[in-house]
Amino acid sequence: MKLAVYVHIPFCKNKCIYCDFYSVVSEDFEEYFSCLFKEIELYERVLQESEIETVYFGGGTPSIVSPFFPEKVIDFLEKKSHRFSPSEITVEVNPESIDREKLRSYKAMGVNRISLGVQACDDVVLKKIGRLYNEKTLREKARLILKEFENVNFDFILGLPCETNETLKKNLRFIEEFTPQHVSLYFLEVDENTLLHNLLKKGLVTLPEAEEVERRHDMFVEFLKFKSFVRYEISNFAKPGNESKHNLFYWRNRDYLGLGPSAGGHLGRFRYTNVSDLFAYTRMVKEGTFPYDYKHENTEKEEALETLFMGLRLKEGVELRRVEKLMSLVKKLRKRYSCYVKMKDGRIFLSEAGMDLSKKIFEDLIEWYREAGK
Ligand SMILES: C[S@@+](CC[C@H](N)C(=O)[O-])C[C@H]1O[C@@H](n2cnc3c(N)ncnc32)[C@H](O)[C@@H]1O
Ligand code: SF4
Repeated sequence: MKLAVYVHIPFCKNKCIYCDFYSVVSEDFEEYFSCLFKEIELYERVLQESEIETVYFGGGTPSIVSPFFPEKVIDFLEKKSHRFSPSEITVEVNPESIDREKLRSYKAMGVNRISLGVQACDDVVLKKIGRLYNEKTLREKARLILKEFENVNFDFILGLPCETNETLKKNLRFIEEFTPQHVSLYFLEVDENTLLHNLLKKGLVTLPEAEEVERRHDMFVEFLKFKSFVRYEISNFAKPGNESKHNLFYWRNRDYLGLGPSAGGHLGRFRYTNVSDLFAYTRMVKEGTFPYDYKHENTEKEEALETLFMGLRLKEGVELRRVEKLMSLVKKLRKRYSCYVKMKDGRIFLSEAGMDLSKKIFEDLIEWYREAGK
């Protein structure tokens, strides 16, 4: 079985006001990694039958732990799996906690892709959202990374507090200056559990107008296309050949193992999400139990639905034979959104305009699926 492995590193130096990813401000790294090895051992049978194709260290902030830890994880995965010859190993890094030494250690252990959390190249925005670096540091670190690595992603968020047209200009200039091979462009999501949500409720922070943000998004996308990036997924752009192999495992609904608190996995038709609580996670793996918060064996139809949802995010779309259990849903989709949903060579996919409308399309799909199940 070909497998992608996600390793969650749930530590941050502080919490950004918008972030709902599971992380804690702590430095108990030793204890955490010893638990992670225990969790890996729980998957002994799966790993013995697996060929690991990609590894992704995400967070949290993987760059705040010593590279010694991810290196040990890589060694352990190699030891436990049937075959370990990943074509892609990614580490997510934050500007304030990355340096040349860490980058070189990553390289020495086989990491070949770096994902840098930029969010916005604008001091006013960065300060407002609680990031721990400024434009100057960002530039220094981006330069270091691109000197050491040939496959680099920059993450941006659009719609952040204090964002203006000037922020957009600076973001584009930043890309022009450093020419990464991959860009992820997200719209800000405001989750209830965040400080940002609280501040907005109290009127202590305002967000830019939605129409303005949409306009900036369109300009950002046009710029990336002009610079030869391909929008291969709704929020992801790559120079041809530099698409994220790891994330393609998710979008193609293939098998992946998620390790660490809050990580999710998909093995055959089995889906799970780990507990989002370091304390509970530690207790459970020490007891020798899987640290699941949610687990479910998909029916064939549920599996097809997930394949359809994930596949429609991709420019390449999804093979119709993989979603044949949902043909009436697919037909309805084609009929309602005829301008946005295309079919070619046995595949169904969204046009670029369809990608921009995907939120509405996905909401409808879910509603129709539920109605049909009644
Ligand atoms: C797992 S997060 C964190 C990675 C890394 N610790 C950092 O801060 O750059 C990965 C990416 O998700 C995006 N992200 C996080 N919170 C978001 C939110 N509320 N809305 C939209 N994108 C978000 C950011 O672009 C971030 O770089
Ligand atoms: S955005 Fe990154 S650094 Fe900020 S709290 Fe979330 S995971 Fe941590």
